[in-house]
Amino acid sequence: MTDLYPVDPAFASQARISGEDYQRDYQTSVRDPEAFWKQAAQRLDWYKAPTRIKNVSYDLDDFRIRWFEDGELNASVNCLDRQLEKRGDKTALLFEPDSPDAASYPVTYRELYERTCRLANALRALGVQKGDRVTIYMPMIPDAAVAMLACARIGAIHSVVFGGFAPNSIADRVADCGSKLIITADEGLRGGRKIPLKANVDAALKLPGTNSVETVLVVRHTGGAVDMQMPRDRWFDAVVEGQPAECEPERMNAEDPLFILYTSGSTGKPKGVLHTTGGYLLYAAYTHEAVFDLREDDVYWCTADVGWVTGHSYIVYGPLANGATALMFEGVPNYPDMSRFWQVIDKHQVTLFYTAPTAIRALMREGEEPVKKTSRKSLRLLGSVGEPINPEAWRWYYEVVGDSRCPIVDTWWQTETGGIMITPLAGAIALKPGSATLPFYGVQPALVDANGEVLEGATEGNLVLLDSWPGQMRSVYGDHQRFIDTYFRTYPGTYFTGDGCRRDEDGYYWITGRVDDVINVSGHRIGTAEVESALVAHPKVAEAAVVGFPHDIKGQGIYAYVTLKAGEAPGDDLVKELVAWVRKEIGPIATPDHLQWAPGLPKTRSGKIMRRILRKIAENAPDQLGDTSTLADPGVVDSLVSERKVK
Ligand code: WT7
Repeated sequence: MTDLYPVDPAFASQARISGEDYQRDYQTSVRDPEAFWKQAAQRLDWYKAPTRIKNVSYDLDDFRIRWFEDGELNASVNCLDRQLEKRGDKTALLFEPDSPDAASYPVTYRELYERTCRLANALRALGVQKGDRVTIYMPMIPDAAVAMLACARIGAIHSVVFGGFAPNSIADRVADCGSKLIITADEGLRGGRKIPLKANVDAALKLPGTNSVETVLVVRHTGGAVDMQMPRDRWFDAVVEGQPAECEPERMNAEDPLFILYTSGSTGKPKGVLHTTGGYLLYAAYTHEAVFDLREDDVYWCTADVGWVTGHSYIVYGPLANGATALMFEGVPNYPDMSRFWQVIDKHQVTLFYTAPTAIRALMREGEEPVKKTSRKSLRLLGSVGEPINPEAWRWYYEVVGDSRCPIVDTWWQTETGGIMITPLAGAIALKPGSATLPFYGVQPALVDANGEVLEGATEGNLVLLDSWPGQMRSVYGDHQRFIDTYFRTYPGTYFTGDGCRRDEDGYYWITGRVDDVINVSGHRIGTAEVESALVAHPKVAEAAVVGFPHDIKGQGIYAYVTLKAGEAPGDDLVKELVAWVRKEIGPIATPDHLQWAPGLPKTRSGKIMRRILRKIAENAPDQLGDTSTLADPGVVDSLVSERKVK
């Protein structure tokens, strides 16, 4: 039996969407998507309103995904220009710095508009044209949003790289899309520590494949010393100074690319997920308003970084297209102390709060006191994203953070989906702790078995989506075939999410986690293949296999099995060295939590590593290894199990 938290009548009486609305509009959205999305498209400002709404075929021989394909618009105009008349003096972004002792400040819609226009003009003056790629490697400061919007204004495709990635990862992403320009800052600040952003860019640009970069714009943020290599490197404030505060926007087709965002898959290097302008923006804006039950005077705070899709859709594009006030926080939950989130909520009277289960679990561990000493009265709705939220953390979030007053929206979606797909609507759908509940408008989830047979009723299977929605990614940048192969070949005629899922007797969806070789560490996707290739790049490593294992705070941790080259001696120092090596190669988010020496790896006779077995050993469940009869050398498993037991 699971708990049911019925819709709160007080919340429902004020809510945008009632239970009846949801039932009716969901039915319309799947019965007649054309009519539904034509109507929905009116929430954007178009130069040319679309007349062709949906043109989609998942048929592998006749594959296409197009939404609003004859429509024309500009994303920055929708986020800025059209807000000026009613909301010019309204706060668009409310900046809260890393340290509570530094000054927070608002950026109004008019200021954001002017800053965006100045940068857009500067980018044009530097030769950036429609369709060119611009990499953004920035701290969580308003200029990160300015950079994204300035690209959107001139039709340049931005590729934001999370500030926690190392030079190698920056270089891979720059090389893959051939960026012409990078926008970065001298340093970032997180939890009182400086992140050498510009130095990381310098190191990245020494690596092969990065010759496309002509210019690096450097925002002066901390004022820390950096090397400026002329004429490549330019100070941001110097290039925008003197630029006009107005900038003619590029007229974009709805299907013109808006951005690339790299994400890990189960194989190979990260994929450049490509999102286009019309469908993405519409879907981000619509879901943001509906899921957060947005009102004009809300102060909305999403704690994600703009380096992830959550930051793109629910700090920048969705909120700004809706004329909302979005808080932008540079810091971390535990600095200077464990009350930081709740103090920021009180300081800025935050009404809508959206964070990740990993943060909830980490804060939960510190007990109620750091929460209870703050008021949090301003809050009216809480959100969760990034990974399954365990019922225990859900209840703590609900009871302790929300004082049992605020509904929680557990939102399931992916970089690939552009926006929220399965989620409660707080005025319409009763909550169950741990379930993302029901699909958003236009979303048609289904569960399939290993053969692709659609399963009915209360059951468990692989989560697929039967039809397209406007926010769907359109391609893997530079490799359209990889897009089709990754998402549409596994279960033909459907989009495969990579997630396992259970559906209960009420039709509620419970995401159980990835069924592929992607590890979800603190809500961030890490491909096992990436960590493995980083490890084998070390001169002493012969072979490596990486799997996920359950981790109390992170959800999943990274467990690496390493075989050394002949003659190399294992030891604690080498463990440290290899862990540091992976951090240096990929970035701190890929830090292995556990490294086990493996004299050999369990393989099939054809040489395929049997990860299923490695996962069970990492979980410390050697009694659940399952069928080991196809192993080339069963002795390998025994030795790994006995080594694991010692730990
Ligand atoms: C994967 C996508 C969506 C933005 C942040 C992550 C997992 C995400 C939930 C949730 C259970 C979730 C899935 C998904 N996931 N949200 N509410 N409940 N699982 O984006 O890096 O593209 O990762 O995160 O496994 O496939 P992402």
